[in-house]
Amino acid sequence: MTADNILTVDGLSVSYGKFNAVQNVSFSVRKGEIFGLLGPNGAGKTSTLSAVEGLLKPQAGTIVVDGNDAASKPLHARASLGVQLQSTSFQTELFVIEVLQLYAGIYGVPASKSDLMATLREINLEDSAMKKFGELSGGQQQRVSLVIATIHNPRLVLLDEPTTGLDPQSRRQLWERIEAIRERGHAVLLTTHSMEEAESVCDRIAIIDHGRVIAIDTPQGMIDKHKSDPEVIAVSRRGRITLEDVFIALTGKAIRS
Ligand SMILES: Nc1ncnc2c1ncn2[C@@H]1O[C@H](COP(=O)(O)OP(=O)(O)OP(=O)(O)O)[C@@H](O)[C@H]1O
Ligand SMILES: [Mg+2]
Repeated sequence: MTADNILTVDGLSVSYGKFNAVQNVSFSVRKGEIFGLLGPNGAGKTSTLSAVEGLLKPQAGTIVVDGNDAASKPLHARASLGVQLQSTSFQTELFVIEVLQLYAGIYGVPASKSDLMATLREINLEDSAMKKFGELSGGQQQRVSLVIATIHNPRLVLLDEPTTGLDPQSRRQLWERIEAIRERGHAVLLTTHSMEEAESVCDRIAIIDHGRVIAIDTPQGMIDKHKSDPEVIAVSRRGRITLEDVFIALTGKAIRS
C-alpha cells in the first residue's frame, strides 16, 4: 500500500456457503477521499463492507486499514474504523442520550453529558435526548447512528446507505458532516443507490456487480469514458449523460432478484 492509502482491499472474496457474493474485489481509499461503492441490489456492497469491518471472514484477499492487516491485527485495524451499518438497531429501550453515553464509553471518548447534548443539538435532536431510541423515526435514528459512527473521530468511516430514508434537510446535513470528515484528512467509504449523490459528493467510485468490480474512476472520469458508448446514449433520458446512464448501461436494465 502507498502511504496515502487509508484502506487497501486486494483480491477480496466473500462466500456464504457455496455462494460467492464477492469475487476478487480490489480497490483502495486514500486519505481525504470520499469513495463510493455503487451497485445493484445484491451486488456485494454490504458484504464487502462487512469484511472490511471484520464482521465476515473473507475467503481470500487482504484488507489493510491504516497500515494494519485486518487478518493479523484485527484490533488495530478496527480501532481506525467508524461504522454505520445498513440497519442499525441500538438498544431501543435506552434514552437517546444514554445511547450516546454508552458508545462514548465503549470507544473511550471523554465526553460529558453537555458535550453529548451539544452533539445532539448539531443534528437537531436535542429535544429528543430523553426519548427512547426506539421511539425515534427511522431518519432520526439514522442521524444518531452516524454521530455514533464518528464519535471517536476515526480515520476511516464506513457508511452503508447512509442517506436512504433521510429527508432533504437531513441529507444535506449528513453530507456536510461527511465532507467535514474529508476536510480533516480522514476518509469515507460509503454505499449509495443515489447516482446524483455519488456524482456530486464522491471523489471516486467503484461500480460493483455480481460480486465483481466492473469500473473504478472519478464520477466525471467514468462519464467521460462512456459518454459516447451507444448503450449509454440509448438509456440516456435527460439530454446530457449522467452517472446513472453509465451505471444502467454497465449493469443492465434488469431488476435484480
Ligand atoms: N448472510 C447471508 N447469507 C447468505 N447470502 C447472503 C447473506 N448476506 C448476503 N447474501 C447474498 O450475498 C449477495 C450480496 O449481498 P449484499 O448484501 O452484499 O448486497 P448489496 O450490494 O449490499 O445489496 P443491497 O443494495 O440490496 O444492499 C446477495 O446475493 C445476497 O443474497
Ligand atoms: Mg447492502
